[in-house]
Amino acid sequence: MTEIIKINATSPEEAKISKAAKYIKEGGIVIFPTETVYGIGADALNGDACAKIFKAKERPADNPLIVHVSSFEMAEEIGVFPKEYAAAIKKIWPSPITFIVKTRKELPKEVTAGLKTVSIRMPAHPVALDLIKKAGVPIAAPSANPSKKPTATNANQAIKYFDGKVDCIIDSGHTFFGVESTIIDLERFAILRPGPFTVEEIEKAFGKKIKVDEITRGEVTVENTISPGTKYQHYAPETPLFLFNGAVKGLIEDLDNIDEQQEFCFIGSNQSCKEMSKAVGCSTIELGNKKNLYEIAKNLFDGLIMLDSLKVKFGIIESFDEAGIGLAIMNRIRKATSHKEFKA
Ligand code: TXA
Ligand code: MG
Repeated sequence: MTEIIKINATSPEEAKISKAAKYIKEGGIVIFPTETVYGIGADALNGDACAKIFKAKERPADNPLIVHVSSFEMAEEIGVFPKEYAAAIKKIWPSPITFIVKTRKELPKEVTAGLKTVSIRMPAHPVALDLIKKAGVPIAAPSANPSKKPTATNANQAIKYFDGKVDCIIDSGHTFFGVESTIIDLERFAILRPGPFTVEEIEKAFGKKIKVDEITRGEVTVENTISPGTKYQHYAPETPLFLFNGAVKGLIEDLDNIDEQQEFCFIGSNQSCKEMSKAVGCSTIELGNKKNLYEIAKNLFDGLIMLDSLKVKFGIIESFDEAGIGLAIMNRIRKATSHKEFKA
């Protein structure tokens, strides 16, 4: 049985938080909102509890979990934060940014996958923070999606994926950002996964340049990369999905050469969708205003999930500017398309 608890996202009701926290304290698993995506969490110090997350998600055992904390002191109990970075981290947390640091003490192998490092984040979501505080323990939580599927950014999707497979699901509506946190490897000062906390913001907060490479952009998927999760296929809808690089006008011209107009769906900004549906007559999934990349990010995973419900032959998704949160959007799109590009 899964208990579903509706909790107010901005002023969480204490009695309801206590109910959910009880599941964590007793070694259960709880799906909860963060400002990025929903997470599927357990007591990070309880290996047996964390093992249940892997079972529910069908997640490969060598993919470590992010540990969520509610204070810097809690973070320091499990990880070693280099002195040169600690002040900046204290200033920017809570926020959608995760740091990979050396472990301070032995953590369950389910959390670290046997690595000597641990990834830690303090989420900027009142429900997540209150849940951690009430549970009194750090909460290990990957994104709330079965392995390889697009992540749940709202409780309804989490319920569709996990009803009957977890102890409790907290329903606090849609998350704020819609893409997962930025992950920083502090040792190399490099971005392993781009997210809502942007390159520009990181460089301002730390006063130095951060490394952005093809792994950050999601252009390569390599075995044995430093972040185990980057080698697995991610976010993919069942429907084959192709990336179209370039202006919609070019796509419309290219499509003149094929006779499958009615059998695909175009995913993109409201503006591009309108152009496509007028010129080509295909079905479309609108992600938001082209000028508001935050809106596009927020709707991206919902759009990928919707594609499968349309039962079309294939999908074509447009590319976005890689500035700011656009870097995270394009990283997720490259992974969702498994690097397949649309060419007529
Ligand atoms: O926004 C988020 O970060 C969400 C919410 C729930 O907080 N969580 C999330 O977790 O996206 P997950 O497990 O889906 O992605 C975490 C990524 C994985 O690719 C994993 O391999 C990597 O972080 N990771 C975790 N610990 C690591 C470590 N010690 N070294 C390198 N990579 C690590
Ligand atoms: Mg994930």
